[in-house]
Amino acid sequence: MTDVFGLSHQEPSRNSRHEQVVFCADDRSGLYAIIAIYSTALGPGLGGTRFYPYPDEQAALADVLNLSRAMAYKNALAGLDHGGAKAVIIGDPATDKTEALLRAYGRFVQSLGGRYYTACDVGTYSEDMDIVGRECAYVTGRTLAHGGAGDSSILTAYGVFQGMRAAAAHRYGDPSLRGKRVGVEGVGKVGHRLVEHLLEDGAEVVICDVNDQAVERVRHRHPEVDSLPDAAALATADIDVYAPCALGGALTDDTVATLRATIVCGGANNQLAHPGVEKQLADRGILYAPDYVVNSGGVIQVADEIAGFNMERAKARAAQIFATTQKIFAIADDEGVPPAVAADRLAERRMSEVGRLRAIWLGR
Ligand SMILES: NC(=O)c1ccc[n+]([C@@H]2O[C@H](COP(=O)([O-])OP(=O)(O)OC[C@H]3O[C@@H](n4cnc5c(N)ncnc54)[C@H](O)[C@@H]3O)[C@@H](O)[C@H]2O)c1
Repeated sequence: MTDVFGLSHQEPSRNSRHEQVVFCADDRSGLYAIIAIYSTALGPGLGGTRFYPYPDEQAALADVLNLSRAMAYKNALAGLDHGGAKAVIIGDPATDKTEALLRAYGRFVQSLGGRYYTACDVGTYSEDMDIVGRECAYVTGRTLAHGGAGDSSILTAYGVFQGMRAAAAHRYGDPSLRGKRVGVEGVGKVGHRLVEHLLEDGAEVVICDVNDQAVERVRHRHPEVDSLPDAAALATADIDVYAPCALGGALTDDTVATLRATIVCGGANNQLAHPGVEKQLADRGILYAPDYVVNSGGVIQVADEIAGFNMERAKARAAQIFATTQKIFAIADDEGVPPAVAADRLAERRMSEVGRLRAIWLGR
């Protein structure tokens, strides 16, 4: 199965069927959305709303099924009391997004009675969630002015940095990145914040971005940061750590074959271009910190909103990404599997062991 971004995913097995998939249509506003709840074993499903011009309903359905399943694993390892869910709105956000459409969508989310909490994703922003929130109590990722958690890239970048420290501790015996050369691919919302953490820790940083202005913004603030013309040049550069922070699919067969870094740890989702790349990385002795583990700071940030947002509390929880990443490397070593497989196993264990407790009768 391939999603709209050209990334392949394993077909869900029979025992990994989704709990609930809901189609939502409101012709007057033009809303056509699909909400997929993969699992509520750990609590209400939490995941963003992707607003995207899918070529057809099948492509949208395939995407939302993959994304909601991935959220279950991400939320489980983030230590959240949330299951996995996601929504897609079919359309072009630049032309189709209206107040009426977003509010109609909010009413459908509300109709699920709290089984699904929504948030921002590709094509949706905090301001959109404020509008959805006018019809719906189950929304996160709103603006600070509306009691929301604001820009989730703050804790996403912080969490990636914690995951990288854990990888450094595992590989070099010291969590510090001081003196290490780190290549950051993509210096947008997450990448540029990661650069700040790295410089503060004493790392040497080299960056690339297809957007020259993004590169200039970083180099203006930090002239000591080097830049390379493109992602191919960065991946083959003499770096210790490679941090993909742009789009998915950065780790292709070709990239892995030429990579000189010994650690891969970045914020981008779906870094492995296809199943099997995790083994190629392990075979080349490259330590891969699984993307959905290290980039979970963003969902941790927005989940905190549900109890009334507190940045210090959310940051403390995102700091745990260091320990979780270490645990995954330890399981990978013990069980003789790549870290990506170890992460999946740990997530499945938590969903099973903690989810099972719902069977204990609480009395009346
Ligand atoms: N923002 C979050 O909280 C969050 C949370 C989890 C995961 N992620 C993931 O992290 C990644 C980055 O997210 P973001 O919010 O920083 O997005 P963004 O759009 O702000 O930044 C992405 C940057 O990558 C650059 N880019 C695109 N293609 C490139 C290429 N081929 N080579 C080099 N640079 C390229 C873009 O120009 C842009 O500057 C995405 O994969 C996203 O799904 C983000």
